Amino acid sequence: MRRMLSSRVNAVRESATIRMSAIAREMKRAGEKVLDFSLGEPDFDTPAHICEAAKKAMDEGFTHYTASAGIPELREAIAEKMRAENGVDASAENVIVTPGAKQAIFEAMLSVLDEGDEVILLEPAWVSFEAAVRIAGGNPKFLRRKEKSVNYEDLRAVVTEKTKMLVVNSPNNPVGYVMDERELREIAEFACDYNIIVLSDEVYEKIIYGKKHVSIASFEGMEERTIVVNGFSKTYAMTGWRVGYAVAPIEIVSAMTKMQQHSATCAPSISQRAALAALKGSQECVAEMVAEFKKRRDLIVKRLLKLGFSCEPMPEGAFYVFVGIPAHALTAAFGDSEASEGDEKRKGVAEDIIFAEWLLRSALVVATPGSAFGEAGRNHLRFSYATSLENIAEGMERLENLLSQ
Ligand SMILES: Cc1ncc(COP(=O)(O)O)c(C=O)c1O
Repeated sequence: MRRMLSSRVNAVRESATIRMSAIAREMKRAGEKVLDFSLGEPDFDTPAHICEAAKKAMDEGFTHYTASAGIPELREAIAEKMRAENGVDASAENVIVTPGAKQAIFEAMLSVLDEGDEVILLEPAWVSFEAAVRIAGGNPKFLRRKEKSVNYEDLRAVVTEKTKMLVVNSPNNPVGYVMDERELREIAEFACDYNIIVLSDEVYEKIIYGKKHVSIASFEGMEERTIVVNGFSKTYAMTGWRVGYAVAPIEIVSAMTKMQQHSATCAPSISQRAALAALKGSQECVAEMVAEFKKRRDLIVKRLLKLGFSCEPMPEGAFYVFVGIPAHALTAAFGDSEASEGDEKRKGVAEDIIFAEWLLRSALVVATPGSAFGEAGRNHLRFSYATSLENIAEGMERLENLLSQ
């Protein structure tokens, strides 16, 4: 019989982050008191004034298809934000509004990659970059970040004739790392010298602690080769509204619009009105959420370090902490009779995956195994602190109890 699935889809792994959340959800439904640190979304409600704008849109009957690239007012507001906050000279024609930032990434890759084109991904990398590259027919080339930053020489070592794109993600998921201007400048210089397109995922732009976000698109020569991806999910706690955007050269925006016309058609009309209110309204709600995230970061990092987990670098943005699992914790997990069960079957399974499963079973604590984010993530766990201070305190207590047994 003919193979049912395409080789493209077979090359893509299930999203480990979404899988862990799904397991946690099932256990919660079964009545278990699971503490979930795998979530990739703010736990806050969408601010009231944004919801009001959506209600108004519905009452006005604004419930139909919109132009594929988005409503003009929103495209203009996004361009204005890029000019005012990011130093990028964008106009509405440079903007496409998409059903979430993820869709923008897929459309961008499908628009610029040909079969076999290579894309440099900086490890550890968010899981969906690799999937998007593969689905678009490209080949991911992983560059492991040495110490903290990436320099010109590191990039030169992985570039080939086929390199078409490089992905930058600052503030970063899963590490919470924020690239400074010097590092971004070096990447920009490399991209210009080697004629490479940069996809800059800036969805965590506003969730940043004391550092300044810099968009790589603001450097000389970069506007014409950068696709900035951003959205409303993280900044305004709007994950379910499905609205994101890309800002790019008009040629790329037109190609992405073509992809969107034939797939999603447009971002939801009601959500676009809500997104417009988010951009135009007071930003106080963002400051409040970020202040709360910072308290949570400080608490979870302090407690994890006390337990012997390593955390380098200290997360300066997003809402994740990426920690190395200490040897004594691995010993505890592997000494456990259930964890070592079926050793033969588990050969080749990364230790962090086995550890995360042990944590879930023994303490009902969910964290994402680091190897989901590439080889550089082996022996690490990602904890999301998009959960209350109480949950963090209780989760850390459970970890302490488990590891002191
Ligand atoms: C780096 C990064 N980019 C994009 C997204 C997706 O955002 P959206 O909800 O707008 O599709 C996520 C979500 O986890 C993310 O971590």
